[in-house]
Amino acid sequence: MKYTMEDLAFLKNNRAKQHNTDARMDGKLCVLSGATSGVGLAGARRLAQGGANLVLVARNREKAEAVKAELEAAYPITADIVIADFSRLSDVRGAAKEIGGKYPGIDVLINSAGLYSTRRKLTPDGNELCFQVNHLSSLLLTMLLLKNIAKSPQGRVIQVNSEGHRFGGLNLNDLDWSLRFYFGLRAYGASKTAQIMAVRTLALLLTETGVTVNAMHPGALRTNIGRNNGLLYRAWLRGVMWHFLKDPTISGEALYYLAAAPELKATSGKYFNLTIEEKPMPHALDEAVQARVWAKSLELIGLPQAF
Ligand SMILES: NC(=O)c1ccc[n+]([C@@H]2O[C@H](COP(=O)([O-])OP(=O)(O)OC[C@H]3O[C@@H](n4cnc5c(N)ncnc54)[C@H](OP(=O)(O)O)[C@@H]3O)[C@@H](O)[C@H]2O)c1
Repeated sequence: MKYTMEDLAFLKNNRAKQHNTDARMDGKLCVLSGATSGVGLAGARRLAQGGANLVLVARNREKAEAVKAELEAAYPITADIVIADFSRLSDVRGAAKEIGGKYPGIDVLINSAGLYSTRRKLTPDGNELCFQVNHLSSLLLTMLLLKNIAKSPQGRVIQVNSEGHRFGGLNLNDLDWSLRFYFGLRAYGASKTAQIMAVRTLALLLTETGVTVNAMHPGALRTNIGRNNGLLYRAWLRGVMWHFLKDPTISGEALYYLAAAPELKATSGKYFNLTIEEKPMPHALDEAVQARVWAKSLELIGLPQAF
């Protein structure tokens, strides 16, 4: 794999001035996963401020009810709640059925549900947890809602990704890490690499539909990510890393820009560092691997290979 200076552009982009938009989203419908915390919550707040009605896909009803109450009290919008745990593909299918039946047209889908785990864990579906929650479930929800998103005059899908894709770790012969020593950063990198590849494939498949799909890194932020891990990791996160992290409102602004900016209406298959378009690592741009990742992902989420 050949690396260039462009592969280090993220260092400069991390400090770049961000784009924003005055465009409103009044009456538009945005479906968000992961909106009970961090990046997704910041996105939900900003979208509600911009006038969008929301569907919050959450695993924790109590937390989702609190977000709904906060947003409906602050803005003249509606926030619906659909319950799904992304570590269960059947939950994601159920959520898609519920949302698809209730809302024929969806303007924006944002998948922010995600995690980082220092330990190897398997889901009830038999997948490595990080790979399933971060990549497979976001892809499944997207695929099952595509018909509804295509009904919007300009449907957009935004997958919250990460500069962590740079850690690599994707091995199609060992997606569940049963053959290798589990290394959390590499497993996280594998999930985010697979997601970038799926975004790039899907963008090509959607060319004629007007639906766009992009990936974004939301910044290095003070959120709840990693809190599911052990005491040592949490102490390092709060005691050391916390000082270098930013407030998640910047990710809310960026998500809003990607969801609303008229100048992005035809932009698809791209990776953004917040609002700055960036080239992912070369390993995430390997087209031969990308085709295999797409086929394997569809197999794992139980969807047919033909589009
Ligand atoms: N924070 C950063 O610096 C950073 C950097 C790069 C990328 N990201 C990405 O940003 C996204 C959001 O992370 P965050 O930083 O906002 O973390 P966070 O504060 O922990 O929020 C994660 C969200 O995902 C939900 N979630 C986790 N596991 C789930 C599951 N099994 N089923 C359904 N929902 C689930 C959480 O629900 P609960 O509220 O119920 O826990 C929460 O709403 C992730 O994809 C992450 O990889 C974050």
